Amino acid sequence: MDAVEVVETVNGSELAAIQRLLAAAGESDGRAAVSEQGRLALRGPRPGVRHLLQRDGGAGLVGYAQVDAAGTAELAVDPAQRRQGHGRALAQAAVEAGASAAWAHGGHPGARRLAEELGFQLVRELRQMRRPLPVEDDAEAEITFPPGVELRTFRPGQDDAAWLALNAAAFAHHPEQGGWTARDLADRLAEPWFDPSGFFLATRGDELVGFHWTKVEGDLGEVYVVGVSPSEQGNGLGRALTSVGLRYLGRDRGLGTVLLYVDADNPAAVRVYERLGFTVYEVDLMYRLNSD
Ligand SMILES: CC(C)(COP(=O)(O)OP(=O)(O)OC[C@H]1O[C@@H](n2cnc3c(N)ncnc32)[C@H](O)[C@@H]1OP(=O)(O)O)[C@@H](O)C(=O)NCCC(=O)NCCS
Repeated sequence: MDAVEVVETVNGSELAAIQRLLAAAGESDGRAAVSEQGRLALRGPRPGVRHLLQRDGGAGLVGYAQVDAAGTAELAVDPAQRRQGHGRALAQAAVEAGASAAWAHGGHPGARRLAEELGFQLVRELRQMRRPLPVEDDAEAEITFPPGVELRTFRPGQDDAAWLALNAAAFAHHPEQGGWTARDLADRLAEPWFDPSGFFLATRGDELVGFHWTKVEGDLGEVYVVGVSPSEQGNGLGRALTSVGLRYLGRDRGLGTVLLYVDADNPAAVRVYERLGFTVYEVDLMYRLNSD
């Protein structure tokens, strides 16, 4: 019989066990079961976040789940302990702890099966898209900004509030990104990978009107977040900002591949990325509990 403990913070030895489990799951599945946001939330109490520690007969950790403040769960079962019912027990415990939605990163067949069995419905498809770098010189020569718009990089400590406001406006329909707080931004600015020279801002006069924040981890570049002020959308700014970041990742950082995550139902973003040569690499599926 599994025991599932629900806690708001994890202690040092629990954290080490969770990280071991996530590393093993990541290696076996070829991708991380818990998102960056979830990994950051392991560091300390975050309002509304709950951690579920699943132990088999009181012994070692066999499963871990995190339920965020919005009620979305991410789950991982130790790859050496799969197909014994732990995933089902953990998912049920997550629902009891308030989860009403769950991610299946990579669309893992076990996760899809479990979601269906528990009455969850597919509600969101998050695509990971990739393209090789560098982008050919011809395409880069074409980067043109709308008239009156200038480019510079992010100044930590000075641009934070204006950037948070722009992020909230651009992602008003996407609470996961648009809801970022000063704390969420500060967490990223303190990460070892953070480099302001890869965080591009578009300005019109004194106003921030768009941004492209790139990220480099190992030999992979990422279009981390792109956003354009609603009043400036549709004028080619998103495409220009994305291209500037690709030039930086390919030419300045010498990377051979860039990835990004985009919702399948965000046609403007999908269009921009497809036109810039990105193709679908894999998908993450989000399920929601059917309340009927
Ligand atoms: C996605 C986003 C960054 C694109 O920036 P933008 O400046 O509006 O985009 P551009 O003007 O450079 O290009 C828009 C393209 O999408 C197309 N497009 C716009 N709305 C569309 C729609 N509803 N359906 C299909 N295509 C659409 C445009 O026709 C254009 O394609 P084209 O160049 O072939 O004509 C911007 O819309 C935005 O900030 N959206 C909210 C935040 C967001 O979703 N960011 C991306 C997260 S991955």
